[in-house]
Amino acid sequence: MNLIKVGTKFFGESVDSSLLDRAKLAVKNLEEKTCLGSEWTGWWNYPKEKGYILVDEILDWKKNLKLDYDCVVVIGIGGSYLGTRTVYRALNNAYSSSDIRMVYLGNNMSETEMGQILEYIEAHSPVVNVISKSGTTTEPAVAFRIVRESLEKKYGLDGAKQRIIATTDPNKGALRELSLAKGYKMFEVPSDIGGRFSVLSAVGLVPLALGGYDIASLMKGAGSYFEDIKNGDTNALVYACSRYLAYSKLNKNIEILSYSDSKLNLLIEWWKQLFGESEGKSGKGLFPVGLCLTTDLHSLGQFVQDGTRCMMETFISFNDKPSIQIPQSSMSPDGLTYLEKTYVSTVNQAASDATLLAHSDGGVPCLSLNIDAPLSESSLGAIFIFFEVACAISASFLEVNPFDQPGVEAYKKNLFAILGKPGYEDQTASLKQRLNSK
Ligand code: PA5
Repeated sequence: MNLIKVGTKFFGESVDSSLLDRAKLAVKNLEEKTCLGSEWTGWWNYPKEKGYILVDEILDWKKNLKLDYDCVVVIGIGGSYLGTRTVYRALNNAYSSSDIRMVYLGNNMSETEMGQILEYIEAHSPVVNVISKSGTTTEPAVAFRIVRESLEKKYGLDGAKQRIIATTDPNKGALRELSLAKGYKMFEVPSDIGGRFSVLSAVGLVPLALGGYDIASLMKGAGSYFEDIKNGDTNALVYACSRYLAYSKLNKNIEILSYSDSKLNLLIEWWKQLFGESEGKSGKGLFPVGLCLTTDLHSLGQFVQDGTRCMMETFISFNDKPSIQIPQSSMSPDGLTYLEKTYVSTVNQAASDATLLAHSDGGVPCLSLNIDAPLSESSLGAIFIFFEVACAISASFLEVNPFDQPGVEAYKKNLFAILGKPGYEDQTASLKQRLNSK
């Protein structure tokens, strides 16, 4: 119980019982599928409904997979890669040669980076998981065509087929059509779960299983957190309520998620997408940004302390076991004698505490968010659910549908028109004219 604790002592506004009751009602509406966008709430209670069974299916499939591979290539963008990459970044040891390398393509259009990754893939034995719910998103579609061609050249049509797994909509879409035609192994993105809420579905589980991560623990951590909420743990609700107070009462329009472990940087990217795409609608919402402590204290710290007072800040931490002590030394011109035998993580925590006090004194409403467990598949499963539930509650306060993303379409349509995709000819000329005058 209370694995994740929200501290509000430095927030300056307290959550009263009527706001908490509104949050409880939002949870009830999620559970009963009566909220805005209820057709997208398949993620609610997913572990119990489908997740545990899916984990067993994927582990069975992996056990029987007769394929030698030394790297996992994940092709996808937005919700189709950020959850997987969060777990990989948090738990892998980039400096160990025994860890399977996971590489990510199709989440941007940098030709330089793509070229380097293609060279890496070419020199290794990859298994490729292309993930796109719609199957039509330009970035992963382009990356997949290029990777596919390179695999077919190297392994032949049949050999390439053994190395490609597609995760996409079970009923429709270009990737589904292509995969059926090519005979690729397919997994489903459930039709009632949107990309950014899909980390526990095959979207996250398949690549993580291929990379050697404990997907059973990930699911269990998520499932236990749903149970905690059902048993009355209100921490996710208090987080959602506090954000709403910052926005509606304190006139803040930015939330900073500050983290002291650089291995959480992809969790921050996942969180940014979750809140940014779910809440940022109809001129509303807190803009989510990350602050890496102590790195960013030497860049953005000045602004947070002293610049425009437009932000609230949440300090997230996991409880990892300390392991590295600052050594004793007979020579101490570095002035560190007072820190001898102190763990590096103690210094790190002190820096985070010092920052919280300083930013609070500087007029920033601050929350703390402590996960009382080390960074692991299980604790990541729990924090995914904590944020997903909080996000849905938070969007209900703003009266926006958290599960759609109409704003993302604007750039996509322009991109299609500029590149001359059939069907967009009407817009092409006027967009090019506007660009010529820039
Ligand atoms: O949260 C979402 O639904 C989106 O951000 C999608 O994940 C993203 O646009 C990728 O879409 P797709 O999986 O259809 O390629």
